[in-house]
Amino acid sequence: MMLAAQQFPRLLAGLVPGATMSFANHQLIHGPMDLSRHGRAASEHPLLLEIERAGLRGYGGAGFPSATKIAAVAAQQGRPVVVINAMEGESLSGKDMLLIRHLPHLVLDGAIAIAMALRSDRILLAFDSGAAGARRAVERAIAERPERGTPGFPEIVGAPLGAAYLTGQETALVAALNGKAAKPTLTPPYPFERGVSGRPTLISNTETFAQIALIVRHGATWFRGLGSERAPGTRLVTVGGAVARPRVVEVPGGTTVRRLLDASGGVTESLQGLLVGGYAGTWLPPEAIDLALDPLELSEYGASLGPGIVFALGESACPVAEVAAATAWLHRESAGQCGVCINGLGAISAALLELCDDGYHSGSYGEIERWCGLVSGRGACALPDGAAAFVSSAMATFRAEFEQHARHGHCDACLDRRVLPLAGQELLAPRPSRRLVAA
Ligand SMILES: Cc1cc2nc3c(=O)[nH]c(=O)nc-3n(C[C@H](O)[C@H](O)[C@H](O)COP(=O)(O)O)c2cc1C
Ligand code: SF4
Repeated sequence: MMLAAQQFPRLLAGLVPGATMSFANHQLIHGPMDLSRHGRAASEHPLLLEIERAGLRGYGGAGFPSATKIAAVAAQQGRPVVVINAMEGESLSGKDMLLIRHLPHLVLDGAIAIAMALRSDRILLAFDSGAAGARRAVERAIAERPERGTPGFPEIVGAPLGAAYLTGQETALVAALNGKAAKPTLTPPYPFERGVSGRPTLISNTETFAQIALIVRHGATWFRGLGSERAPGTRLVTVGGAVARPRVVEVPGGTTVRRLLDASGGVTESLQGLLVGGYAGTWLPPEAIDLALDPLELSEYGASLGPGIVFALGESACPVAEVAAATAWLHRESAGQCGVCINGLGAISAALLELCDDGYHSGSYGEIERWCGLVSGRGACALPDGAAAFVSSAMATFRAEFEQHARHGHCDACLDRRVLPLAGQELLAPRPSRRLVAA
């Protein structure tokens, strides 16, 4: 069976919950990947043009055009390395782990196609060494590949790394793969210029490679057959919070938030707000439920879908306590090597935590929004920018609750369990499920 035109779901086709798809089943569902017509190298490569026509943008968070990035690597001297970024340090996301645990061959296909186009001899699959079942699934999938050892095909190596929020940031990932501490480094040089072992390095997200595996087979016109002009194709979104069945769903681009929540069993209580894009994302009011997941519509609210995350905050939770806890976590996860994180993010975090105390208030509440403006664009990586957007959008969305806390200290709900999952801390609520559904 091959995927038909308009087939839906695409990425999740044939998935059996709990099982890792074998290479044989993967071939049955998606058919073989014909790389013969993709034998040319460099920036005129037909696959690159097809990826550009498809309008593919990376699914790791920033939504950067994939063809531009691949072309930048192709233009370098030296044999490139291809890195699959499956670190998924964002605790609100479940899609990358789901892909490598259940559908690893789709991800490997995309990486092999790109490595062949770039004449790369090495693919590294970087993943969280502590994630249950990941190592076994990766090792088994690599061992199953028929191209293994065939001259002209790249070597594929699993790279289990210690997980942290920052390890997935591309310069930190390069440092970790080069055997150094997983901390961001100053750019330039960018990884596409000098990355793993000093070689030009293409780093892309797991889902980006899985989508490329489909574009190689079916082309750009097929890819654009679902979704909208501005959000072509489908994408995976991890839905969490006050929904009946938190999970990863595949949706056509441009789907509304309401449809996503319905696909996750519907909301379980009235909503106070929606977090779109994760811990570097944006809080929106409940009325945003009818927004389409379309880059333009979202950008009018200063938001983007980031790595594909929507979290519904129910009325029983305290938004101030949730934002304070998540910001303290982001501060702890920062590498502590730039003043902007040590001082700026530290001060923001301390002022937020103070709002949930019951004692003395220093009055620094009034400074938080100004401090958020000051930290943006000042660090060696985008962590403080994301944290500032997360905090300032929360203060705009939950203005009344923040002012209430500034006047009276903690509320009753501050003392309840936290609902936002933070890796490395006791999970006070279920993480978004790795289960999947197509909506
Ligand atoms: C703090 C931070 C953490 C990040 N973590 C991840 C991650 O876990 N996985 C990921 O794919 N990208 C992550 N990114 C984005 C990567 O730096 C990079 O842009 C991405 O892997 C590129 O893939 P794409 O072009 O397919 O989107 C992170 C960025 C920042 C600033
Ligand atoms: S900006 Fe913050 S997280 Fe990024 S490298 Fe500097 S200290 Fe680390």
